[in-house]
Amino acid sequence: MKQIKVFFIVTLVLAALFSGCLQGSENVEKKLVPVPYPETAKSIANPVTKTETNLDVGRDKYEIFCSMCHGLTGRGGEEVSKNFQIDPSSLVSSGVKRRTDGELFWATKNGVNKTKMLPWGELLSDEEIWLIVNHIRVLQKEA
Ligand code: HEC
Repeated sequence: MKQIKVFFIVTLVLAALFSGCLQGSENVEKKLVPVPYPETAKSIANPVTKTETNLDVGRDKYEIFCSMCHGLTGRGGEEVSKNFQIDPSSLVSSGVKRRTDGELFWATKNGVNKTKMLPWGELLSDEEIWLIVNHIRVLQKEA
C-alpha cells in the first residue's frame, strides 16, 4: 500500500514538472545568457516612434526574422529552434525587460558571440532593427 502511495506521489510530481516544461509557462523567466554589452550600448537612443503603423511593421519583421528562434511570444521554444537545437533565453524575462532599448538594438545589430544569435545588422537596416525592438517591448508588456 505504501509503495502505491509513493508511486502515486512521484508520478504527480513528475507530471507537474513535465507539464511546466511543455506549457513553457516558466520560459518567461528562462536562464539569461550573459551578453557582452559594451557600456555605450545602454544609451543609444531609440529614434523610432511607436505609431500604430510602426508597431505593425515591427511585428511583421519580428515574425519573419526572429520568431523562428525566439517564438511568436518571445519565450523561445518554437519548433524550428528545437529542431536546430537552439534554445535562446526568453526575450520577455525580467532580465531582458531591464535592458535598455539601446542594448536590445545593440545585441540585434551585432549578434551575441559564440551563439546562434547572428549580427542582424548585416541584413537589416538600423531602422528595421528599431522597429523590431519596439515590438519586443510590446511582447514584454503582454507576457
Ligand atoms: C537562429 C536563432 C535566432 C534568431 C533567428 C534570432 N535570435 Fe536572438 N538570440 C538567439 C540566441 C541563441 C541568443 C543568445 C543566447 C540567449 O540569449 O539564449 C539570442 C539573443 C538575443 C538577444 C539578447 C537578449 C539578452 O539577453 O539581452 C536579443 C535582444 C535578441 N536575441 C533579439 C533577436 C532579434 C530582434 C531577432 C530578429 C531580428 C533575433 N534575435 C533572431 C537566437 C536567435
